[in-house]
Amino acid sequence: MKKCEQLYEGKAKKVFATDDPDYVIVSYKDDATAFDGLKKGEISGKGSVNNRMSNYLMRLLEKAGIATHYVEELSDRETVVKKVSIVPLEVIIRNVSAGSFAKRYGVEEGIVFDEPTIEFSYKNDDLHDPLLNSYHALALKLATKEEIETIKSMAFRINQILKEYFAGLKVKLIDFKLEFGRTRDGQIVLADEISPDTCRFWDADTNEKLDKDRFRRDLGGVEEAYREMMKRVLGE
Ligand code: TMP
Repeated sequence: MKKCEQLYEGKAKKVFATDDPDYVIVSYKDDATAFDGLKKGEISGKGSVNNRMSNYLMRLLEKAGIATHYVEELSDRETVVKKVSIVPLEVIIRNVSAGSFAKRYGVEEGIVFDEPTIEFSYKNDDLHDPLLNSYHALALKLATKEEIETIKSMAFRINQILKEYFAGLKVKLIDFKLEFGRTRDGQIVLADEISPDTCRFWDADTNEKLDKDRFRRDLGGVEEAYREMMKRVLGE
């Protein structure tokens, strides 16, 4: 497939057109941001880790019957994916209290929930991705009722699959963010990425953070954490 003009540049990825209108190429960058881009930096090797880990997990999910945008890994940083229109919702699943949940409700991090939770944010940087519920999403016409139901059930199923998978790698899946897209024929598929940028991973024995919180919170050992997750997932 031929890589054509750049369509979009986001904070962590670039998207290029191809010679086939149903496919695009994503290219992962080492750039890292946090707090709506207020904090900027670079995590050496992150683009490659996120690309390869995300592709591995998308293939795993496809095998378990989850429709994703994944098509083909081209290189360390570049992947062909289905062209979708992104549903402007950040879908967050949590198994354990952490991050904005702990802050919002004034609880400590690390409380294991009896059931996973789901929340939505409106994907809009100017508004700082405000939290909303499914009625708000409907009112704003961000998705249809059927699409929201599909997204919810896919997100919980993805959580079951990933939680079990990571447990086998001695990693606790604390929480994560998903994005979904619509293909040209209207199918809802998992899109974006699943990586240490978009998940919280804690070592099962020590609770050591193995994700982007090391960058967000200036904990040091950022590259090492990404490499450790890469090693556990891909064995290298
Ligand atoms: P939060 O606790 O800050 O709301 O984050 C919940 C999860 O979502 C966490 O695993 C990190 C991920 N996340 C993103 O992928 N992108 C974002 O912009 C934010 C704020 C969080």
